[in-house]
Amino acid sequence: MAGVYSPIKLKDYVQATNLKGKKYSFLSDLTREEMTALFKVAEMMEPYTRIGLNIMSDKVMCALFFEPSTRTRFSTETAMHRLGGSVITESNPTQTTSAAKDESMWDMLRVISQYADILVLRHPDEKVVFDALPAASIPVISGGYGSITHPTQGLLDVYTLWRIRGTLEGTKLLVSCPDLSRARSGHSCALGAAIMGAEIVYAGPKDLPVPEEQLEKLRATGAKVTEVFDPSVKEHEDLIVESDAVYLPGCRIPKGGDARELYMEYAKSYYIGMEPLIRAKEEKGKTVGIMHSLPRFAGEFDFEIDNTDNELYFKQVAYGIPIRMALITSMVGLD
Ligand code: CP
Repeated sequence: MAGVYSPIKLKDYVQATNLKGKKYSFLSDLTREEMTALFKVAEMMEPYTRIGLNIMSDKVMCALFFEPSTRTRFSTETAMHRLGGSVITESNPTQTTSAAKDESMWDMLRVISQYADILVLRHPDEKVVFDALPAASIPVISGGYGSITHPTQGLLDVYTLWRIRGTLEGTKLLVSCPDLSRARSGHSCALGAAIMGAEIVYAGPKDLPVPEEQLEKLRATGAKVTEVFDPSVKEHEDLIVESDAVYLPGCRIPKGGDARELYMEYAKSYYIGMEPLIRAKEEKGKTVGIMHSLPRFAGEFDFEIDNTDNELYFKQVAYGIPIRMALITSMVGLD
């Protein structure tokens, strides 16, 4: 649709998300109907991602990031600016906020609630966040918590598939990574895709598996979920050919000692070259979408994919703006 802004329809869809005033931490915080309503809001935002709307002019968003970020922080801030709102931002809080003076997360969230109308928070320790979240009296968007959840990334991933394919029903999504224990963006994408009707296949090492908490959430969706452990290069390529989209969660490469070399050795089994993509086109007549949460590194996949129809990772980046405009609008609410 990507149509024309209609305030009445927009309000209806915003209301149907049931997100006003909430804390958004997991894809499973939304039902399929609510996620579809959010996608409709995002679709209505698409024509305004550059020219902007003026529907948040009296609102302030705080961005508080305890971990580095390019996409999540900048795109959420961009979304708020495009909605006509204001942004206060902190990307080094352990040095330049009172966290440096050991202020608790509980007190920080209570204090920020007096200044801002919505908070986007990234933190490496989900326990610290979940213990403190009740102190926030404003809506809180997770910008990524610990190793388990990165819900705005998952939303933009699933929105990308929804926009390109029209539906997630019947979609086979392969999530593939040399370390599935820390693949928070892959887990969020898988959960959102499962809620929207996709089948999920995980490929990864047996000794770094998908966390049980994630598997429980996936099982609760009723989606078909398969785990393939330690695939050979050939087995992995066959999985790619059978898939409609492949998601690379972009794990951080471990540092220190020989950790990097070991990881890169592991990574060889999960490399995505052009060959299985060409085979999928020739044998199945399909274009397998290659998705990545970025940043990427050499050795994960053939960067020649940038110049093919298989590339979805930069499209995901672009869809990150309307979906975050939709999320902020739905969580703050329209008067
Ligand atoms: N995709 C993602 O979360 O990127 P950043 O770490 O740059 O925000």
